[in-house]
Amino acid sequence: MYLVANWKMNMSRSLIDGYLEVLSSEAMFGMLEEKGLSVAIAASHIYLDYVNREVHRRNIPVRVLAQDVSTRLSGAFTGEVGVPNLLDIGVKGSLLGHSERRRFFRETDEDVVTKTNLCLNGGVVPVICFGESQSDRETGATFETLQTQIEPVCQEIVRAREEGIYTPFYLAYEPVWAIGSGVNAGLEDIQEVIAFVCKGFSWPDPPICLYGGSVGLDNIRELASLKVLSGFLVGSAWLDPHVLLHSAKLLPKMERSTHEGVRFK
Ligand code: PGA
Repeated sequence: MYLVANWKMNMSRSLIDGYLEVLSSEAMFGMLEEKGLSVAIAASHIYLDYVNREVHRRNIPVRVLAQDVSTRLSGAFTGEVGVPNLLDIGVKGSLLGHSERRRFFRETDEDVVTKTNLCLNGGVVPVICFGESQSDRETGATFETLQTQIEPVCQEIVRAREEGIYTPFYLAYEPVWAIGSGVNAGLEDIQEVIAFVCKGFSWPDPPICLYGGSVGLDNIRELASLKVLSGFLVGSAWLDPHVLLHSAKLLPKMERSTHEGVRFK
C-alpha cells in the first residue's frame, strides 16, 4: 500500500525537522517493511530540495513528491517549476491535477494531460488526481466528469507506452466534496468509481488507484478493506506525523507482490 501525505501549502523548516524526526525511528522502518507500506510526502516546491536532502541524509525510507509541475519545460515563465527542475534536485514524482489546482488556479483537463506527458517523458512518476464535485454528484454528472478527466490522460499514457516510455503512473480518486470536509466517500461509491476507471478505459497496464478525501484514523481501516484501493492520499490528518504512523499501524499487512515493480522506493 502507498501512503501519500499531501502537505499542501503548510509546514516550515522547523516543522519539517520535527516531522522527519518522528519518521526517523527504526521501529517505523520495520513496521512499514513488515506491512508492505510505502510512504511518500508531497511537499511544496520551496521545501522539496530540503526535504529530499534530509530524507536521504537521515536514511528515511520515504519518497518525496512535488505537488505540481509546470506545463512548460523551461524558459520565461516566471514562478513556474518544470520537470527538469524536479529532476535536477532528485525529485522523481509529482501530484498532478489536484482539485485545489483545478478549482483555485483554473487548471484544466488539458493542462493535466500536458503535465502527464512531460512527467512520463522525464521519468517523473505522476500521481494523477481526479474526482467529481458536489454538484456533479447532485446532478448525476459524476461519471461524465470522470470520463472527461480520465480519457485524455489514458490516451496520453497509451501514447507514451507506444513510444517506449514506461514511467509508472498512479491515479488518485479524490471527490472534491470529500477533501478537507470531514466527510469521506462511501465504500460503495469508491468501489463503483474505481471499477469505472479501471474497466472503462484502455489502460496499457492496470492502474494503481489511491483514494483521498477526509481519510483519518477513524476510517482508514475500513477504507483499506477495499481491495480495489492500493493506498491513500491524505491532507490534514497527516500533517501530524504521529497520525501518519498511527494510521499505518491500523492497516493490515498487505500483499505487495503485484505492485513490486512500481514501488515508490
Ligand atoms: P484531506 O485532503 O485529507 O485534508 O481531505 C486530501 C487531499 O487534498 O489530497
